[in-house]
Amino acid sequence: MKLLEVRNLKTYFDTREGVVRAVDDVSFSLEKGEAIGLVGESGCGKTTTALSVLQLLPKEGRIAGGEILLNGEDFAAKSEEELRKHRWRDVSIVFQGAMNALNPVMKVSRQIAEALLLHEELTEEEARRRVLALFDLVEISSSLVDCYPHEFSGGMRQRAMIAMALACGPKLIVGDEPTTALDVMVQAQILALLGKLRREFGMAMILITHDLSIVGANCDQVAVMYGGKVAEIGPVGKVLRNPCHPYTQRLLKAFPDIRGEREMVQSIPGFPPNLVTPPPGCRFSPRCDAAREICFSREPAMRCVEPGHEAACHFAEERS
Ligand SMILES: Nc1ncnc2c1ncn2[C@@H]1O[C@H](COP(=O)(O)OP(=O)(O)OP(=O)(O)O)[C@@H](O)[C@H]1O
Ligand SMILES: [Mg+2]
Repeated sequence: MKLLEVRNLKTYFDTREGVVRAVDDVSFSLEKGEAIGLVGESGCGKTTTALSVLQLLPKEGRIAGGEILLNGEDFAAKSEEELRKHRWRDVSIVFQGAMNALNPVMKVSRQIAEALLLHEELTEEEARRRVLALFDLVEISSSLVDCYPHEFSGGMRQRAMIAMALACGPKLIVGDEPTTALDVMVQAQILALLGKLRREFGMAMILITHDLSIVGANCDQVAVMYGGKVAEIGPVGKVLRNPCHPYTQRLLKAFPDIRGEREMVQSIPGFPPNLVTPPPGCRFSPRCDAAREICFSREPAMRCVEPGHEAACHFAEERS
């Protein structure tokens, strides 16, 4: 059985401007210990996909269709109480700038201990020992055990947030641009740490990033998202070596500078679609050099270009 199966997920936001179809028929799955990268321009639905899996949507958001199965269990059907437990024990998240979410007037170790005490029945002494073990796991020196957040570097604070996310041994961890705010060296260290934890505990990961080189180095699969849909999905080596969706090709070409994530986004002319009134046909067609007549009227289905590798383009096979 798959650890996670997301099938035809639709997540909408009800706004004054209308219904935002932020995630519109997205499917992917993860085996135990596997990592998938979600990439694509700003606003294409990456975070909303992850928040749907975590059942952490803001109140204006709703799952409008599809299924999310964790170990075969559909947890859209669960109570809020069950979900709260599930969030820590089964799935957990480290988000961009999480390190700034630490309480500045409480020792970091104390904050992790409190998170543990909230979710598990432990004595103070047990919690303290667990925190030390977690420090060890994420490679924070035990000499920092009495320190406050401002005495930690940015990278160390992000490690502390990872420790917190790992506290209850989740089967799946979501990293939503977990290293974006950090310098390149520290980024690499944190990603190496997540990789180590994945191998050690068989933890699966959804890694959200703008940086395709990060996905290449840290994920087994990649899903390229565009306008709330998956444009292309498959094993990371296949998709990066043999991209078959024009959008993926543009993303890859526009990537000479590994640090210029935001610049990369601008180097594709035009803007991603408005998700209240997306264009008819293929959502990428207004920006696609290769678009033909059919692309403006008919929505492309997912086409298999090689085993496990699919692209939502009418002409995907011509490029494979
Ligand atoms: N709370 C909300 N209310 C209304 N619309 C929202 C809300 N959150 C997100 N959206 C919209 O949903 C779409 C997808 O947003 P999402 O944050 O999932 O994108 P993203 O791929 O994570 O982008 P980024 O790379 O900027 O983080 C966007 O059109 C966004 O404006
Ligand atoms: Mg996001």
